[in-house]
Amino acid sequence: MSPATFLVTFILALSVTATPVPTILSSHTLPISRRLNLTNVHNLARHDQTRAKHLKVRGTARATGLHVRGDPIIGAEEVENQGIAYVASVNIGSPPTSYNLIVDTGSSNTWVGAGKGYVQTSTSFETDTHVYVPYGSGAFYGMEYIDQVSVASALVVQNQSIGVASASVGFSGFDGILGIGPVDLTLQSLNSYPNNLVPTVTDNLFGTGTISEHSIAVSFEPITIDDEMNGEITWGGANSSKYIGNLSLLPITTTSPASQYWGIDQSISYGGTTILSSTAGIVDTGTTLVLIASDAYAAYTTATGAVLDKTTGLLLITKTQFSNVKSLFFRTPSGSTFELTANAQIWPLALNSVIGGTSGNVYLIVGNLGTPSGEGFDFILGLAFLERFYAVFDTGSQTVGLANTTFTYATTN
Ligand SMILES: *[C@@H]1O[C@H](CO)[C@@H](O)[C@H](O)[C@H]1NC(C)=O
Ligand SMILES: *[C@@H]1O[C@H](CO)[C@@H](O)[C@H](O)[C@H]1NC(C)=O
Ligand SMILES: *[C@@H]1O[C@H](CO)[C@@H](O)[C@H](O)[C@H]1NC(C)=O
Ligand SMILES: *[C@@H]1O[C@H](CO)[C@@H](O)[C@H](O)[C@H]1NC(C)=O
Ligand SMILES: *[C@@H]1O[C@H](CO)[C@@H](O)[C@H](O)[C@H]1NC(C)=O
Repeated sequence: MSPATFLVTFILALSVTATPVPTILSSHTLPISRRLNLTNVHNLARHDQTRAKHLKVRGTARATGLHVRGDPIIGAEEVENQGIAYVASVNIGSPPTSYNLIVDTGSSNTWVGAGKGYVQTSTSFETDTHVYVPYGSGAFYGMEYIDQVSVASALVVQNQSIGVASASVGFSGFDGILGIGPVDLTLQSLNSYPNNLVPTVTDNLFGTGTISEHSIAVSFEPITIDDEMNGEITWGGANSSKYIGNLSLLPITTTSPASQYWGIDQSISYGGTTILSSTAGIVDTGTTLVLIASDAYAAYTTATGAVLDKTTGLLLITKTQFSNVKSLFFRTPSGSTFELTANAQIWPLALNSVIGGTSGNVYLIVGNLGTPSGEGFDFILGLAFLERFYAVFDTGSQTVGLANTTFTYATTN
């Protein structure tokens, strides 16, 4: 079977309908841990902004049908290591080799070879296809392979298309990426077959009937120490013991370019003041902060009385100002409200030194998106948000589900 036929077969397999099975087995869950490594990161805010710019540009190009492969070439200056990420240990091949992959909802190709070299086994099959994916502050280039990928004991994809990097930048300390974004983000990643999608691990698990719902759910938890196993990805359903109350199912926004990603519509208020009226943005595990459009950021800066700290790129407030910080409210058109408390708006004090900050300083996790509102991509809810709310990314119902957790109102920072 040629790789092209192969990919088409898998895309067709996705139309198979499965009967809903509400029980989620723990064998459908992959533990994940947070890694901090800011050795090669200029500052957090700039890192996130570079990614935001890239996602926006690529999303816009894709939505308008432009050829996006001619993405701006990544100059040496723009290359930054992926500083903060959640990492999963994924087994590939038989006998398996385990790779530490960054969990990314903002991209959808899964690939290895950045750190540990790819180990070929009897299940490895090389295609004749070159693969290239740029990420804003990094990129990889290599060959596409078909191999057996196992993300949890019962979650095995026999024929998963994966990239094997022959060159990559921006991923020191990691082996590659587990891409869990919408499959359309794989368009134009394969040189010879630019119009082919590369079905994701989630697509294939659903297509082969291994999971009964076409979704993934992620649980992140606030942490104050590095490299702690404190999160999980669940395929095919939500783990109801990880959240409180009901999941609010938010339809994927129709506003472009946020619609290319896990995009939703929300308004944002600081206390009782609206700083961003209802608009589209995305939920993204590859972003550390909560980024908001520059006009909303200016309003937030004024309201909190913060000043920009040059070293970290984050907003800095005094302890007195902190005691006056009001909640940020994210409101959906359907009326659900997600509250980011004052404590949830600050960088963990115990981790100030990791970001080049000064002990005792209070830094805010709300950052500048770098572009004004009204451009269809006005906020990014990154890890700082996701560590306070449970999230379900559902391709089947085209929704992002969000719910409160025991950490929503916790004082952890
Ligand atoms: C759901 O979360 C609970 C509590 O953290 C955990 O013990 C359990 O294993 C998880 N269940 C699944 C199906 O992953
Ligand atoms: C995987 O691909 C091989 C080679 O094309 C094929 O023989 C096998 O049936 C495929 N397995 C599945 C589960 O589709
Ligand atoms: C941290 O990143 C640097 C370069 O960005 C890399 O050389 C180093 O190995 C990484 N450290 C760990 C523990 O991954
Ligand atoms: C959750 O949804 C159920 C069924 O729609 C409803 O009866 C219940 O009141 C809701 N719970 C909360 C906390 O909103
Ligand atoms: C989260 O909890 C708060 C406080 O109990 C509640 O007001 C809010 O409606 C909840 N949000 C959602 C989306 O359930």
